[in-house]
Amino acid sequence: MSAPEAAAKPEVHKGLEGVIASETTISEVDGKNCQLIYRGYHIDELVGRTTYEEVSYLLLFGALPARGQLADWTTQLEAHRTLEPEILAFLRSLPRRSSSMARLRSAISLLGVHDPDGDSDELDTMRRQSVRVIAKTVSLVATIARLEAGQEPLPPKRGLSQAATFLYLLHGREADALEVQALDAYFVLLAEHGLNASTFAARTVMGTKSDYYSAITAAIGTLKGPLHGAANSKAMEMLEEIGTPDNVVGYVQKTLADHKRFMGFGHRVYKGADPRAKHLRALAEQLGRAHQDLKWFDISTKLQEAVWQAKQLYINVDFYSASLLHYLNIPTPLFTAMFACARMAGWSANILEQASDNRLIRPLASYVGPRDLRFVPLDQRR
Ligand code: ACO
Repeated sequence: MSAPEAAAKPEVHKGLEGVIASETTISEVDGKNCQLIYRGYHIDELVGRTTYEEVSYLLLFGALPARGQLADWTTQLEAHRTLEPEILAFLRSLPRRSSSMARLRSAISLLGVHDPDGDSDELDTMRRQSVRVIAKTVSLVATIARLEAGQEPLPPKRGLSQAATFLYLLHGREADALEVQALDAYFVLLAEHGLNASTFAARTVMGTKSDYYSAITAAIGTLKGPLHGAANSKAMEMLEEIGTPDNVVGYVQKTLADHKRFMGFGHRVYKGADPRAKHLRALAEQLGRAHQDLKWFDISTKLQEAVWQAKQLYINVDFYSASLLHYLNIPTPLFTAMFACARMAGWSANILEQASDNRLIRPLASYVGPRDLRFVPLDQRR
């Protein structure tokens, strides 16, 4: 390529890396300083001190709720958790071989079809839809899991939090305080994370003035990929494949020799430690101790160390999510849907923010294919 041609070549940001596509007041993902801030609060301030109910309110409305606001918000969430008969019938009709994320994606789409305002792009309507969908997602995911296991779905119980409801609906018994606390903290830590792939997908859909349910459906489809949300279940499969702490070093060597990736390691934005990981690690350890089963935690810590020694890669949010969710007796194929339960608040806040100051999202592509081709009739093509 000649010098003028090279100079004229537009700069391409593959994967939109480093591109700032919007302003936001919802969260800051500070990759350089490895910090995550929700509406002005560092996550270290929130985790262990706030519930998912408080944090979802914070993300959606911009401030932590006062006592009365929290009571009202909690009541609204409780009121929406029950699944309507048509949704239950739909979930029962789905083939067993379909993944939990595919079922969740389809169920959210169906919620939109049954909502008389499903095609609306009005802010007030979408705020109501956010409460409805945040509340229902825990019921949907637990119901998907019970049906997969051949168990009858349960109706939600009054007086339980989002996290406690999920564990009750999945296991058919009320979880103990530590289990609820761990899942609640997991939901808080994964509630929001800037313009990640699934949130960007949701905002792109909303940017066309489509509707809330379409945006959430797109986000779920995006989260489903192993380079994004499905890394948590892949990380658990990796721990299971390793099987015992003694196998860690051999696994690392083989993975490097095969040029494969370590799931739950690396991040596009954080250039150091993912600020969520230390909290998840502490919770996984607490659960492991409580269950007198530190095997998964021990494999994880040894793997974290060995991958660091071999490749200086940091763990990301998905790494200790794996053992944490496993210790809560949540089946591995459900892990990515657990991520979706948490992220529903962040997606909803971003959809509302996009709609309140909208501009169609429409990047450009630099065409590098052939030019000036001449048309060839069908019977002359080879
Ligand atoms: N295992 C092994 N090597 C890795 C990993 C990993 N998990 N992550 C990055 N690298 C290496 C790459 O091989 C590459 O090395 P090279 O330059 O020698 O070829 C270098 O680090 C940069 O990797 P990229 O893929 O260019 O980085 P990118 O920013 O595109 O990728 C990603 C980020 C997709 C998260 C990547 O780290 C990855 O594939 N991780 C595993 C999957 C995962 O855990 N995803 C969850 C991310 S968090 C979330 O979405 C919730």
